[in-house]
Parts: sequence; C-alpha cells; structure tokens
Amino acid sequence: MTATNDASDTSTPGVARAPGPTLHEQLLDDPTRPPDPLLVESPVFLGDADVPYRNYISPDYAAAEFEHVWPKSWQWACHTDHIPEAGDYYVYDIGHLSALILRTDDGEIKAYFNACMHRGTQLRPPNSCGFAKQLRCPFHGWTWSLDGQLIDLPDRWDFPHVGDESHRLAEMPVGEFAGFVWVNFDRDAEPLAEWVGVLDDHFTEFGFEDRYIETHVRKRLPCNWKAAIEAFLEAYHVRETHASGKLGDEVTTQYDIFEPNVSRFIHTTGLDSPQRPSPRTEQEIFAHMTRNLRSGEEALELPDNVRARDFYARMVQEQMGEKYGHDFSELSESLTLDSIEYFCFPNAFFFPGLSLPMVYRFRPDPDDLDISYFDLLILRPRPVEGAAPMPPEVIEIDIDESYTLAAGLGGLGRVYDQDTANMAAQTRGFRASHKRGQTLGNYQESRVRHLQRRVDDLLRAGGYDPDS
Ligand code: FES
Ligand SMILES: [Fe+2]
Repeated sequence: MTATNDASDTSTPGVARAPGPTLHEQLLDDPTRPPDPLLVESPVFLGDADVPYRNYISPDYAAAEFEHVWPKSWQWACHTDHIPEAGDYYVYDIGHLSALILRTDDGEIKAYFNACMHRGTQLRPPNSCGFAKQLRCPFHGWTWSLDGQLIDLPDRWDFPHVGDESHRLAEMPVGEFAGFVWVNFDRDAEPLAEWVGVLDDHFTEFGFEDRYIETHVRKRLPCNWKAAIEAFLEAYHVRETHASGKLGDEVTTQYDIFEPNVSRFIHTTGLDSPQRPSPRTEQEIFAHMTRNLRSGEEALELPDNVRARDFYARMVQEQMGEKYGHDFSELSESLTLDSIEYFCFPNAFFFPGLSLPMVYRFRPDPDDLDISYFDLLILRPRPVEGAAPMPPEVIEIDIDESYTLAAGLGGLGRVYDQDTANMAAQTRGFRASHKRGQTLGNYQESRVRHLQRRVDDLLRAGGYDPDS
C-alpha cells in the first residue's frame, strides 16, 4: 500500500479523511478484484449545519411525514417468495396506509388499496398474508376477482349508480426489484427504476434475486424511525459502541451518496486499522477473526506469507459453499467478508455481501413518534437444485427484549442490542439537550444528513415548511 490520505486538509469542509490508506486502495490491494460497483467512489458534502431535534420529536413534523413522505415513496412490501402462486396475498401497512398485494391468475403481481369500494372496510387484516380465490369483503359481501373486477354485488338493484368499472378495486403502482415487491401509494409516482437509481445498475452484479429469506425478525424499537435508520448509516459508532466485539477495530469505511435516494457504506473486515496505536501481526488479526471458531484457548494457525483477510475469505467461501451448495471461490474478498450496505430512501437497506447478507426495513409507529418497527432479514443463496425454503415465520421481539432470542442472528444479536441501547438514550437526550440540534461529521455522518435532507425535500415539496 502506498498512497495515503492527506488528513491535514481541514480547510475545505468535507474533504478531510482518516489517516492511512483509503478503503478504495485497500480493495485494489486484494488479490481478487471486486466487482466494479464496489470501486466507485461518490462522496458528497452536504453542509455542516446542526440538524434540529424537532425533526424527531415534533408531532407536527411526524404528521407531515405521514402526509408527504410515506404516501409518496417507493417501499418494499414483501418478498416475491411470499406470493409465489396465483391467489397468494400479503398486506403491507405503513402508518395508516395499507396495501393488499397479490398474484393474479396470470402470474402478474398487483397491489390494491386495502379498503372496500363500498364503505371502506379493510378487505384483509393488517399484517396478514394467505390465499384467496377472490376478494370478498367481510361486511356486506361485495366481491372482486384477483384482477380487481367487481364480480358480485349483493342486492345490485339498490346500486344502479355502481358500475363494474367505477368500482373496480383501486390499484397502486407496484414493481419488483432485488427479489422484493415494491409499492407506492401515489398513483402518479415515478417508475420504481427511477427511484432506486444506481441500485438497478449495481445490483446486476450481486444476484440478489437469487436469494431466499432464512431468518426474519421484527423488533419494536424505542426511537423515532429516522434515529433507528441513522444508527445503521454510519460506522463511526462501531469503535465505541461495539468495542468488545468482532467489529470493534477494523474501521476503514467508505461513504457514498448517489442522489437522489441511495447511499452506501463499505466497511472492511480483516485488515488492521491505521488508527490502532500499534499494528497487529497477520496472525493476531487471524486469531481475532476466528476466535469464535476455535475450541478452548487454541488459536487457529495462519499459514506463512498469506494475509489473514485472504485466508479467512477462502475459509468462509468453503464453509458457505458446503452449506448452501454453491461455488463461491470466484467471489472477491470484499464481497465475501466486508460489510457492504446500501440504503434506499426512505427505509430500506440491502447488504450484498456473502457473510453479512441482511436486508432491513424501518417503519414509524403511526401513534407514537418515539417508536418504530425494524424488519431484519437474513438472506441466503438459493440452492442450485430444488426449491428454496419458503419464507419463515416472523420472530417478533418487543421493545425490552433482546435480539438474542432469535437464534438465526447468531452473535449479531448482541451487537444489535448495543445499538438499541443507544437509540433509547439518544431519544431521551433529544428532549434533555440544551443544544437543540445534532452536530454531524462531514464525511462519516454524511448519510445521516442525506436522509434528513431527503425527508425535508419531500416535506417542502408537499407544502410543509418545518421552519415556519
Ligand atoms: S363495506 Fe365492504 S361490502 Fe360493505
Ligand atoms: Fe451498530
């Protein structure tokens, strides 16, 4: 490694970087070249003004989000595996909005506003899924085909003003991306491909639609939805919050913003942080990475003349290859080991890496702005032969319960618990603070600012001025 950052440039805001090699340089030093999207760098400096705490604690602000952000933004509602056959349906709720997503007899996916065209009754309960040949309202029995056509209207003689066309089920825009079904409650929404922007291009490299859901956890969180998301947008907290863990000290991270809706970090594993006061040997790094694998006090031996990162990547590829029946030997070290995290505004995260293969989704509680819901999915490569397992039952974890209740999360449960403790403390501090806004790092916390700015953009576009 040769080039290093010029950390002394503090005169131009947003330009300074941590001393030592950049993540980009580290990736180029790997023996296997990573896919091109991982070599793209797109830092954006978005200013350095404090972000007001009222964005989290003002009821007016939260109400404006429900009016101008959630009904206008593309969100993934379910996985395509949730509705594989004609008649399978799935209900996605966000705030007081509800979408009924289903597969028609032609195999097409449609999404309807989940409300009867007669007197508004929800056709299917919140958070439900199942199978239906047709959609019959539980109140008076009006019935629609899966295509949304009104096919039965009891006592039709009393409704000469109701036509099959005028009372079709109301559809909303729906699309597929990365194996998930996305909806938008705005019938004039831009196409999904435009919304996900650069993701469309980057994800052609990652085979995300060839994965199935192995574990699905839903956790109730003690904070505003934006604070929950922000806890995962930066790795700046890792050294302090997760200091005792495996993620504790490898902190070279690259932050990118791809306007308008996407941001990313890449966080390396198995390389020594330049910020450590004294560098470790490759054997020490290897011992640290494999400490969960060894029996007793016996450390695993790293062969001579090979980097811990490269050797460990091969180990992971072999283990995962055996477990999931694939050949991962061509994967780059970065795609095998690193924490690669894409965020798509307003609430979705996708991790294309092999050993950290998560998807997140966050939703606000419609009745309490200090509560949010976190869907945490672990995805795995589909078997080459035979069908992938169906999506598992959701493991519900309440606000005071530990993620370690979900066995499928392994050691990550404890790490997520550490994040939750921060969220609760931060939420208390939003109200206790004398200073009325948060101060953000120009680079490492740029994605936090980007999220805040996107919310602000949509609020203002909808005619709500948070400053008035
Ligand atoms: S409200 Fe649905 S049939 Fe009457
Ligand atoms: Fe964390």
